[in-house]
Amino acid sequence: MLQKGNEEGFIRYFCSAGYGMEQFVVDEVTRKLEAQDVEQLQGKVLFSSSANISQVKQLKSVERLFLLLKRDPPLKMSSHANPARAASALKSTLMADPQLWTSAAMTWKRLQGVHADRKERLVEELMKEEDHESEVQIMKKRRRMAFEDELTASEHGCDETAPQENRDSSVPFSFRISCKCSGALSRCLSAQDVSKVLGASLKQLGWKVDLRYPQMEITVYLNDDHCLLGSPLTRLPLANRSYIQTTGLRSTVAWAMAQLAHIQAGFLVLDPMCGAGTILIEAAQEHKLACFLGFDIDDGQLKKASDNVEFAKLGGRMHVLRASTTAMPLPSASVDAVVCDLPFGRKFGSKSDMAASLPLILAEMERVLRVGGTLVLLLSPQLSCVLKRILTHKEPAQPDQERQHGSHGIMSTPIQGTEPPVGLMCKPYPPLHSLKHETTLRLSLGIIDGLLHKYIKTDS
Ligand SMILES: C[S@@+](CC[C@H](N)C(=O)[O-])C[C@H]1O[C@@H](n2cnc3c(N)ncnc32)[C@H](O)[C@@H]1O
Repeated sequence: MLQKGNEEGFIRYFCSAGYGMEQFVVDEVTRKLEAQDVEQLQGKVLFSSSANISQVKQLKSVERLFLLLKRDPPLKMSSHANPARAASALKSTLMADPQLWTSAAMTWKRLQGVHADRKERLVEELMKEEDHESEVQIMKKRRRMAFEDELTASEHGCDETAPQENRDSSVPFSFRISCKCSGALSRCLSAQDVSKVLGASLKQLGWKVDLRYPQMEITVYLNDDHCLLGSPLTRLPLANRSYIQTTGLRSTVAWAMAQLAHIQAGFLVLDPMCGAGTILIEAAQEHKLACFLGFDIDDGQLKKASDNVEFAKLGGRMHVLRASTTAMPLPSASVDAVVCDLPFGRKFGSKSDMAASLPLILAEMERVLRVGGTLVLLLSPQLSCVLKRILTHKEPAQPDQERQHGSHGIMSTPIQGTEPPVGLMCKPYPPLHSLKHETTLRLSLGIIDGLLHKYIKTDS
C-alpha cells in the first residue's frame, strides 16, 4: 500500500534503467507509487510521486534513483559554435532561475532528513580515523557505511522523521559534480568543461565545492535528446540488493523476469537452471505467499544458491536441488510458472551446444508446466532463433536431427548432463504447440543483449 510521505506535495524524480528495462520502470512506479507525469526516455524514466522516500528507494527495476534538479531541452549548437559560446549558452540555461537551485537543495535536504545528519556524523568520524588506518580498513569501513546507509534508509521513512529545524538549513551547500556529455555539445565542451561551468555558477550562489565528502552529488546528463540534472538519493545503486550475497543475473533483469511470470499466492515457481538463484530470490521478495524451486547441475552454483537462500532467510519457501533440466524429478503439470536464464554469453556460456539441447529442455519445461502456466525464458538472440524454429516446427523434432543440424547446421554434442531421459531417448520430441507466444523483449545485459520470451501453456 502507498504510504504518503510528502505533505508538501509531489516530488519529481528520475531514475536510470538498463536498456529495455524502461517499460518495467514505468509500470512499477505507476503501480507501487501511484506516480504521475511519467515520462520514458532511453535509459531513463522521470516521474512525480508523493510517496514516502523509503518506499521510492525500494523500487526494483531501477539502477539509480535521483532527485530531479533540472530538466531542459537539449542545447542546440550551431555549426559555428566555439567553446566560449557553448559555455555561455550552457551557463544561461543552467542558471536561468537561480531560485530553483535553492529550492532543489531544500527538497534534497528534506528527503535526506535524519539519515543525512547521521551520515554526516559518520563521515566526520571516518575522516578523523582515516589518518591512522590502512587503505583496506578504510575501504571496508566505507563499504559498511554504504550498506548501513541503505538499511537505515529502508528502515525509516526518513522525510517523516526529519527534525523540522533541518528542513530550512539548505545553503550554503557543498557539492561535487559528475557529468556525462555526448552529442553536438560534446564537440565543443568536454564533461570536465561542463562541470567547471556549473561549478563556477553554483559558487556564485554561495555553494562550496567538496570533492571528498560533498553534501550533494550533482549528476549531469547532456546529449542531443535532453539536458538532465539530478542528485542521486542513495550512495549505492538501487540495483545492489542488500538481501543477495552472491549475485548472478543482473538483479533488475531477474526481477523483470519474475514480473512477467505473473506469480500469484499459492504458486509453485520453478527455475530449472537456477545458478545462484537470483531470479527466484527476486520473485520471492516480491511474492511472499508463493513457493520456489531451483535446479542446477553445477554443485558450485548450488552452493551459492543455498547460501543466498539462507542469507535472504527464504529457507521456508525456497529450495534448491541438484537435477538436470532435461530430466526433472517432477510430475507432469505440477508447476505454475517456469522462469529460466539459459547459459549463454561469457559468464555462463557453455562449451557444449545449448542449441542442440534446446528441444529437449523445452519439452521438459512444457511437461512440468500446468495448462495456463507461464514460461519466461532469457536467451541470446542466436538461441532465440533456434527457439522460434523449434516452436514453429509442425512435425515432431527427431533428437538426432536436432543434434546433427543444431542451430548452425553443424554436428554438435549435447551439453554435459543433458542426456535425454530414457523415455525421450528414442522418441521424437513432441511438437510444442501448447506454448502460446505472448511477448518478446530485448534487454541489455551489459556487453551483450538478451531476449526475454514469455509463453503461456494452452491445452491444445
Ligand atoms: C545462465 S546460468 C543461470 C544464472 C542464474 N540465473 C543466476 O542468476 O545465477 C545457467 C545455469 O544453468 C546451469 N545448467 C547448465 N546445464 C544445465 C542442465 N542441464 N540442467 C540444470 N542446470 C544446468 C549452469 O550450471 C548455470 O548455473
